[in-house]
Order: sequence, then C-alpha cells, then structure tokens
Amino acid sequence: MPDADLKAVVDFDMTRAQAVADEYGCEAYGTVDELVAAHTDIQAVTVAVPTVYHRAAAEPLLNKQIACLIEKPLAPSVKDCRALVDCAKANNAVLQVGHTERFNPAFRAVEALNFKARFMQTERVSPMTFRSMDVGVVMDMMIHDLDIVLKLAGSPIKSVDATGVAVLGEHEDIASARIIFENGCVANITTSRMALNTERRLRVFSESGFINLDYGSCDGVVVHTDGDNREAMMKIRDQLAAGRDLSDLKYLDMVKVEPLSFDLPAGEDDQLTAEQNNFLRAVRGGGKPAVDGEAGLAAVDAAQRVVRAIREHTWEGQAGSALLLNS
Ligand SMILES: NC(=O)c1ccc[n+]([C@@H]2O[C@H](COP(=O)([O-])OP(=O)(O)OC[C@H]3O[C@@H](n4cnc5c(N)ncnc54)[C@H](O)[C@@H]3O)[C@@H](O)[C@H]2O)c1
Repeated sequence: MPDADLKAVVDFDMTRAQAVADEYGCEAYGTVDELVAAHTDIQAVTVAVPTVYHRAAAEPLLNKQIACLIEKPLAPSVKDCRALVDCAKANNAVLQVGHTERFNPAFRAVEALNFKARFMQTERVSPMTFRSMDVGVVMDMMIHDLDIVLKLAGSPIKSVDATGVAVLGEHEDIASARIIFENGCVANITTSRMALNTERRLRVFSESGFINLDYGSCDGVVVHTDGDNREAMMKIRDQLAAGRDLSDLKYLDMVKVEPLSFDLPAGEDDQLTAEQNNFLRAVRGGGKPAVDGEAGLAAVDAAQRVVRAIREHTWEGQAGSALLLNS
C-alpha cells in the first residue's frame, strides 16, 4: 500500500520471513514477541498465520493497542473469537476480519441496492487444492458465504440444517446447509472443495428484485420487481387468469435485466486493495472497519452450528457423516 510503511514481516520459518523481507525491503522476525520488543512504533499488522495460531499471534499485538487485520476465520472456536473481540475492546484497538468477499465490487453493488433479502442461494465450489486440510470445507470456504448471508439477512439465526461428506480425511469436503433466520429469511448454502470446476455465486430473492452475482468475474445482474418488469408481470397475470395460452411467449424477452453496478472509489476495483484501504482508514480513526470482530465471531458461530448439524445427520445404514469413497 503506497500510504503505509512496511516495517517488518514475522514468520516462524525465518528463511521464509527473510526472503519476504528481502523482497520488500523490511526487517524479518521469527516471533510476534520479537517484533513488538524491537518496534514500539508499529500501528497495524495483518495476521495471516494458520487459523489455529490467530489468537496467539494477535493477542500480544492487541494488548499493545496495535490494530489487527486477522484473516478469516477469526479463530477456530467461538471461545477464541470472543477472547479476541474482548481483548480488542479492552485495549481500544481496531480489529478487522479478512472476509475479503465483502469488498468484491459486485457484492458492494448488491449492498448498495439495499434489498431486504427473503431467500438466498450460494454456491462456492472448487477442485481440491490440498490447502487448509486441518479444517473442513465449512471453516475453510463456507465461512465466506456465512458472513455474506448473515450480513444480508440482518437477523440472528433461528435454525440450521446441514449435511456434509468427508471424502479425503476426517473433515467434511462437501457441505450443504439450510439456514433459517429469525426474520424468516432463508439461505441455502452449497460448498465443495472436491468439484470439477470453480464457481462462486450468490442469488438473492427479495420483494424489490432478484440478484445473480458471480464473485469470480466480479459482476452480476439485477431484475427489479417494479417499473417495466412489474407492468409486464401484471399483464401476464391478467392473461393467465383469463385462460390464455402463453406458451409462445418468450419470458426472457419480457424481463428487463440490468447489470450490477456501483461507483467504486478510485483504485478500489481490486477487493484486496479495497479491504486494506478499509483497514487503514479505520486505523487512522476513519470509523469502524466494514467487517469487525463481532462479524467475524458471528460467522464462526454459524460455521460451528453447521458443523454440528452435519455431525448429527445420519444416513440409513451409515453412522455419522463420513462417507469415504472406498467404503
Ligand atoms: N481471505 C481469504 O480468502 C483467505 C485465503 C487463503 C487463506 N486465508 C487464511 O489465511 C490464513 C493463513 O493461511 P495460509 O494458507 O496462507 O497459511 P500457510 O500455512 O500457507 O502460511 C502461514 C505462514 O505462517 C507461518 N506461521 C505459522 N504459525 C506462525 C506463528 N504463530 N507466528 C509466525 N508465523 C507463523 C508459517 O511458517 C507459514 O509461513 C488462514 O487463517 C487462512 O484461513 C484467507
């Protein structure tokens, strides 16, 4: 970031830390404690170590009032998430969580529409990368969609139903969840890291319209339910009510489909840049980060409920949710 001064990089693996430090012209340390002992002027840190170490790495920083952008998921358990949120609050330190999808230009266009979501469908599938094998697909990939649907539903979760399959190890590699929110909104979420293609999609149905978003290509469409579309639908309703045969009608020619668009601030068309800008703005006192610690905690809480529901599901003749391909 041009307006930030990179002081140091920390990695347990000093060879790796030194290589990155050499590339970016900064110092290298093996532990967070060494970093905070050597520098009293650090204002902000990005914590991108494996999730199990998030709390251990971030707490010494937050305790020194250093702002932290912690990668998603915030922590492996709700207890650790709560500890991090409380630690940030007690020290008046900025805590942001790396739910990068919130900064996807297409998602920002969805937010700007301000539709009241009634029903959502998400799909996030990709071929196996053999990364993040210490957690299941829910904590690894579904967590992005859980954060998004929680944001769009704007309501606490009432119930969770889910199924999942562990193919390569003890954790689920494929998962499907149906979440019902207290305000009646429903989200169907599908995730797989065993797919043959890569797809990241969100569909939102609301009284104001329908949205279809592709995170990968950062674009999407919206169909508003007022104006021309409302008139067209009313006409069809009347004709159907009068018993007319409309099988020759071309539905897609009748619906006005508009591209999702949003005026992004200069240089913010890349979601990682936008996320870092949001963090630096918060560090400089420019307000709360878009994805704060409470949002990170809510996503982990939802993910744990999904994992619990998966474990409780059984198939006839098969105990538990592990369905190994060779069994
Ligand atoms: N937002 C996203 O879309 C996204 C994408 C990928 C990964 N992530 C998250 O980023 C985090 C890191 O994932 P990754 O795949 O890059 O991990 P990784 O294992 O590839 O790399 C982590 C690095 O941290 C070092 N390390 C481990 N523990 C440490 C500690 N306590 N102190 C200092 N260094 C330590 C390791 O030596 C390694 O070099 C995870 O929480 C993951 O979920 C987020």
